[in-house]
Amino acid sequence: MAQSPLDDGVIAVKDFESLARDNVAPHIWNYLSDGAGDQQALLENEVAWQEPWFAPKVMAGLTQVDTTVTLNGQQLQHPILLAPTAMAMSYHPDGEAATMRAAVRTGTTYIQSTLSGVPIEELGNIAREGGGDWWFQVYLHRDRAFTQSLVEAALAAGASSLVLTVDSPALGARDNDRRHDWGQMPEDGISMHERVFNPFLDSAVGWSDLQWLRDVAGDVPVWVKGILRADDAVAAIDHGAAGVMVSNHGARNLDTIVPTAVALPAIVEAMDGRAPVVVDGGIRRGTDVLRALALGADAVMVGRPYIWGLASHGEAGVAHVVEILRAELQMAMALVGVDSVASITEDILWS
Ligand code: FNR
Ligand code: LAC
Repeated sequence: MAQSPLDDGVIAVKDFESLARDNVAPHIWNYLSDGAGDQQALLENEVAWQEPWFAPKVMAGLTQVDTTVTLNGQQLQHPILLAPTAMAMSYHPDGEAATMRAAVRTGTTYIQSTLSGVPIEELGNIAREGGGDWWFQVYLHRDRAFTQSLVEAALAAGASSLVLTVDSPALGARDNDRRHDWGQMPEDGISMHERVFNPFLDSAVGWSDLQWLRDVAGDVPVWVKGILRADDAVAAIDHGAAGVMVSNHGARNLDTIVPTAVALPAIVEAMDGRAPVVVDGGIRRGTDVLRALALGADAVMVGRPYIWGLASHGEAGVAHVVEILRAELQMAMALVGVDSVASITEDILWS
């Protein structure tokens, strides 16, 4: 692998995929890339971003294309966030640290997973030194005191928002992980293929737990990740969430689940501007980002793509993924005739 992804011919985000596959062990590759069950939802997440067609407006007299967005009063250089992904050190020895450096370098908000290998203080220091923004994703452990101590450490290290993931009360049927008996293996003798619940995480999570996390968070905004229904989105905001993340967990848990591009519009409508909406799942191109924004999302997240970059080229790979998506977004914005994220509306989509 060359030092720079460009020297390895990486022009589009998907060019990273095969390079990454060649660089990690087969069971790691399966864990990263597979969806649940027959992997129908994994496919549909991507396909669903291909429509409606764009309906460009010409002669817009553009002089620049501004990608900055504001989320909960916080200004970001662009609307492409790095989704929380577990165990980044499986793909690269510097894992989360390399990802954080790339995020800082590209003005990208990195959402750090609860399940990380690098000490949270170290990540906080990288962000602080570079003036970067990062958030912390929360999985609730059965032992809430343990979760509380993790969250407090993240806040002390400088996390500017928290993200409570609510879509994983059970493990998904990830066949290849089960085949390798690999994933979350505890020592209670239950084999992976017959396990329903995640041995480390609490399945008994309800809205009162959001209230609990808000109390721990103090003034720091708490987002809810893993929302697909308008009623749940409204409930999240009613229970004090600062925003919702429309996500089906990268189609890793429940197969034949609704694609996020399909779920998004009703949630945006139900939010009615009360709180910001972020979406993830299958976003691989700047046009996907633009379409998500046109459908009412305030920002998007990518998961697997930046891990491909990490697995093949470390920090440079993650940075390149963000740079590609941002450049493609700017091209697409210019081509439909908008010069700022605020001026992107459904009007740019064919109806
Ligand atoms: C994830 N995802 C995830 N989500 C979360 O809230 N906490 C986590 O620890 C993880 N871990 C994780 C590991 C891996 C390998 C992947 C691929 C995904 C889900 C992630 O945040 C996001 O929702 C999806 O990855 C988005 O879909 P794409 O971009 O991967 O298609
Ligand atoms: C996953 C969990 C860890 O998707 O969120 O693998």
